[in-house]
Order: sequence, then structure tokens, then C-alpha cells
Amino acid sequence: MRRRLRWWWSLLSLPLLTVATLAWSAAHAVEQVTLLMPAPFAESTAPLVRQFNEQHRGRIELNVSSGPRDTEAMSDLAISSLILGAPPYDALLIDVTWLPKYAAAGWLEPLDGFFSAEDEQTLIRGARQGNRYQDHLFRWPFNADVGLLYWRTDLMEAPPQTPNELLGISRQLIADNAVKTGFVWQGRQYEGLSCDALEIFRGFGGRWLGSDGQPALTSANVQRAVDWMETLIRTGASPRAVTNYAETESLQAFKAGDAALMRNWPYAWAELQKPDSAVRGRIGITTMVAEPGQTPVATLGSWGLSMLKGARHPDATVEAIRYLTEAEAQKQRFIAQGYTPTVEALYRDPELLAVAPQLPQLAQALELATPRPPTPLYAQISDVLQRQLSGVLTGNQSSEEALKRAQTSTSTILQSAGGA
Ligand code: GLC
Repeated sequence: MRRRLRWWWSLLSLPLLTVATLAWSAAHAVEQVTLLMPAPFAESTAPLVRQFNEQHRGRIELNVSSGPRDTEAMSDLAISSLILGAPPYDALLIDVTWLPKYAAAGWLEPLDGFFSAEDEQTLIRGARQGNRYQDHLFRWPFNADVGLLYWRTDLMEAPPQTPNELLGISRQLIADNAVKTGFVWQGRQYEGLSCDALEIFRGFGGRWLGSDGQPALTSANVQRAVDWMETLIRTGASPRAVTNYAETESLQAFKAGDAALMRNWPYAWAELQKPDSAVRGRIGITTMVAEPGQTPVATLGSWGLSMLKGARHPDATVEAIRYLTEAEAQKQRFIAQGYTPTVEALYRDPELLAVAPQLPQLAQALELATPRPPTPLYAQISDVLQRQLSGVLTGNQSSEEALKRAQTSTSTILQSAGGA
């Protein structure tokens, strides 16, 4: 009798055990989370990702896919995978200008349920911008980027304040043989050119889009701004090669000690302080020049993490987003790579202030942060602007013609979609 019972029991227990094991492993399966980031961010995040995976072993496994470096190439990659459906990513690191388009297309999961108003209050003003679309939070900031003017403290007493001063000092220093060239910036036909142009337009009192949301590119102020950009190149204050410079090329020239001034983002600071920099310890930062009476502005850059619709494990994805963006992570990234913190309290952190004398100026620039037009059609209108400006800078068309064309095409793009 006993033996028979045992026999029955062993027959029954096997499937029971299998079912129990399956149920346990389903409940405790390691949740895979995949993020897509441009290569430089993926590289700089690798130590944090390792740390995250150690701390979440057996529960979450975070993988970071490394995408292209330039913002447009990165967006093309992200969009093609989104359009094909079922993208292999749970979250993307997105540039501030992509947000309206991605949110309007329904590709992103709102984050309102995951981040509170208090969470947002911890961010510095510049980092609070560009994360919402139609009143929903769709992006949690990863770095706070803003356009800066770098200047050589060994070549000038103070940085130039106005476009005229910048032109004058550049030409003077070249004439004195103090430097090879004056001012390096992003003159290539790509997104960086739009970022620089926005600052310069505003410095001359011009606007890309007016307060009515319509293009304002044929105004006398924008015309003067573009003429100034062209004059920089024509007079040699900027090298002709600047029409082919993105951030990296400008940084190389400045880091080698070839230029007196540079427009770039905050990450350049860390690069300029490395032992192989010819200008280490001889750099100041400020914001782009503006005509007397105009408030200088600094283009709002910044990248943030967005969760994709259909993310396999939303809670785990948000846990990863939080981990990679919390104060400690910001601190590590700022010290090691110069990525500007988003957390306001870090701008008062004695430990950071001791190693980063540029922190107060960064905070000041972030106060002046100005977004590019927040429309889902941004990529198209920026492409028009870059194309027309590049024509002027390379001497292929007059600024007047170029701006008329930019105005008409921008209007057509915005109207065809029913306005900005
Ligand atoms: C930086 C900025 C980004 C901008 C890009 C242009 O990465 O953060 O907003 O679009 O530069 O090159």
C-alpha cells in the first residue's frame, strides 16, 4: 500500500514540480532592458551600466546599444527602427529637438506616472525645458547642454561682448601672429549650424520663427546676422575651413592652440583640460556675443531618455533611467566627461565646485538657454536653414536670396502641416 502511494506521489510530483519551477522563473526572470544612445554617450555610460547590472543581478539586465555620433544620423537610425515597428529598444537617448516629432507620432510612452512634480523641481531651469509635449512628460534629461563661447585667457583680458568686438579681436590677434585663426564654430551644413545660427540671430535681435510661429527670416536683423557670419569667413577672422567644421573639428583646432575663440558645448571643457591640450588652464567660458541692447542667448541642447511605446518592462526601464540620471551619476559623468549636470543642487556642491571652476558660468548660461523651434517639423525646417546658410557661407549665394528662399520653404513646410 505504502509503496503504491509513493509510486503515485512520484508520478504526480514531477509535473507539479515543473509547473512550480516554470511559475517561479516566470515571476523571477531577469528583465532585459535595451537603450539606444549615440556612441559618445554609450561609451561614457558604460561604467554606470556595469554598476547597475551588478546591483540588479538576477532582476534586470541593462544593455546599451551604441548608435552614430551625429544627431541626424542617430535620429535616422531610431526612426527607421520605429517605423518598421517592434523596435529592439525599450528607451532612446533623444536630442531635445526630436521630442515633438516622436511624441506626436505616438512613439513614446508618457513618463508622468513615473516622475513627480517634485522630481522635476530638482532640475536646473535649463534642464527642465524640452521634456514635455502637449503637457505630458516624455523625456527625462540626461545632460543639460547649452551653447558657450570659449575664450583664451592668455590672449585677452576679457571675452568679446559684441559681434564687432569678436570680429575686431580675432583679426587683431591674427595680425599680431598671436594665433593662426580667430573664431572657430560649427559652419558645416548640419544641425550644429542651426544651433550656432539661433544664437547669432538672437544676438542681432533677429528670430528664426516669430512669436506668431511664422518664419521671420527676411527681417533686417536676421540679414545682418547672416552677413556677419559671412564676414567672419571673408575677412579671415574664421578660417574658410569652418564651413566644414562640426563640434569635433572646432574643438581640435581650439585644443591645438590654433584659435582664440570657439563656440561649442560644455563637454569641450573637460577635453580642453586634458594633458594633451595646448590650452589647458588658459580657457574661460561665457555666452555668445550680442549687439548692445540685445540679451545674449545660448541654444538649448541636451539629451534625455525616453521610453518607447511597447517597452517590454516599463518599471525596469524607468528604474534604469533613474539610475543613469540621478545626482551621483551626473556627478561622475561631469567629472569624467564634462557632461553638464541636470540636478540643480550639484551647482552648489562644494566637492564639484572645488574641481570645476566653470560650474557657476555653466549655471549662468543655462539661465539664458533658448530652445530651437519646438515643432514636430523641426528636422525639415532646420534642414532648410542649414542648406541656405551653407550656400551663403561657401560663397554660393547672397544672404538676401538665401534668406528669401529659407523664408518661403519654411512657410510652405509649416503651412502644409497646418501651422507650427
Ligand atoms: C549637441 C546638443 C544637441 C544638438 C547637437 C548639434 O549634441 O546637445 O541638442 O542638436 O549638439 O550638433
